[in-house]
Amino acid sequence: MTTPCVKVIYLVGVKKMTDCQGDGEGTNSPMEVYEKLTAQGEEVRALKTAKAEKAEIDAAVQLLLKLKVDYKQLTGQDYKAGCPPSETCVAPDNRPSADGANDEDTVDPWNVSTSNAKGVDYDKLIVRFGSSKIDQELVDRIEKVSGQKPHHFLRRGIFFSHRDMHQVLDAYEKHKSFYLYTGRGPSSDSMHVGHLIPFIFTKWLQDVFDIPLVIQLTDDEKYLWKDLTLEECHRYAVENAKDIIACGFDVNKTFIFSDLEYMGASPEFYRNVVKIQKHVTFNQVKGIFGFTDSDCIGKISFPAIQAAPSFSNSFPQIFKGRKDIQCLIPCAIDQDPYFRMTRDVAPRIGHPKPALLHSTFFPALQGAQTKMSASDANSSIFLTDTPKQIKNKVNKHAFSGGKDTVEEHRKYGGNPDVDVAFMYLTFFLEDDEQLEKIRQDYISGALLTGELKKLLIETLQPIISQHREQRKKVTDERVKHFMTPRPLNFNF
Ligand code: TRP
Repeated sequence: MTTPCVKVIYLVGVKKMTDCQGDGEGTNSPMEVYEKLTAQGEEVRALKTAKAEKAEIDAAVQLLLKLKVDYKQLTGQDYKAGCPPSETCVAPDNRPSADGANDEDTVDPWNVSTSNAKGVDYDKLIVRFGSSKIDQELVDRIEKVSGQKPHHFLRRGIFFSHRDMHQVLDAYEKHKSFYLYTGRGPSSDSMHVGHLIPFIFTKWLQDVFDIPLVIQLTDDEKYLWKDLTLEECHRYAVENAKDIIACGFDVNKTFIFSDLEYMGASPEFYRNVVKIQKHVTFNQVKGIFGFTDSDCIGKISFPAIQAAPSFSNSFPQIFKGRKDIQCLIPCAIDQDPYFRMTRDVAPRIGHPKPALLHSTFFPALQGAQTKMSASDANSSIFLTDTPKQIKNKVNKHAFSGGKDTVEEHRKYGGNPDVDVAFMYLTFFLEDDEQLEKIRQDYISGALLTGELKKLLIETLQPIISQHREQRKKVTDERVKHFMTPRPLNFNF
């Protein structure tokens, strides 16, 4: 390859960074480089098919080769299309999978499934996604910096993975504040207990760090993906906001918004959406999300809308136009593809990369092979279920790790690792000692399946009843207050 071609690449690189005020590329994870490589491979193919000019094809090939070298340096492996970092798999088909393909577990924003009754292999997922494990050292640091006992979701590995959390804590120790961003796709008016997990944890983070919070309700997303009208999606957004508010958020510190309302009302938000759209190619979103040529263009551009709240100047009323406030996103790990894309774009348009805290999934009643889904009534315990419905659902549907007969159970004991009632207790029973005793007694056979289910029922019933009481108190006026763009009680 001759020098002029290299120059061309250099110039292309510079041109692409015209909006940049940051450090350009930043550090890339193996998964990020893998995704870039996949997209670049497609770019080269597309140029060849289109019979583009030789110099253009050569430049694209050079970039591809450079990425391959970077990838090898980073992972010690050769890049193979369809085989993400650390996987020595054979690509199942030639379609790029949304998360980068794996032999068994599927995890993307629309599907979660595994053949393992214990649930998704989260350690493997950390390697595939290129995130970091929330280890004891980080949990201890959060305790030290916040001055509070870590939430049981942290102590028990329910929030198990992160990106850049140490950086957030370093800055916080130097009195540099940050803000929280989370969200919900309002696909129906009934939320289930699993939906509460990120909100319960976000509320705890807000309380211990005393920071602003923005909550995105993606009614636009649900309109694009589901067979629903715009009016229905927006109505679900407002109904879901009531459930979210019932978790106890402080109206002076929290802004909840519907995309269908706020996108049109905030030029600053829309400007960020457009900037993000300019910096992500169709090839990239195909690589990250698995979109195909027959997906509507609304879906293809939607990731920019979920990315925009990660940048503080999308909310000028809260951050007084500042674009440098660090964002921390607590979410379930299936949302990570959106934020891998966001982190890739952030430095190129002059924003800090959002940090992340990832949670595991809340298992379906039938077992941890998939997550609880509102569209399957038997797999879910809804926030509107009566105490009697809760009892019946747990007794009838919760997959048991117990033995078939009492005699066998007493003799061999049960398996809490696959038992859904036990898994739910890890989410909702706060007392560590009591939980450990239940685990031991179940393993030894002293505790029967029916008794374990009864403990879960007695734990869940009051939590859901209290939620219902709190929700009843949320008036339309209160919802409006939370959803009105306004300054919050923080000085930026
Ligand atoms: N896409 C998410 C869903 O379908 C909603 C969402 C938007 C979200 N922004 C978010 C979730 C930020 C977590 C964090 O539920």
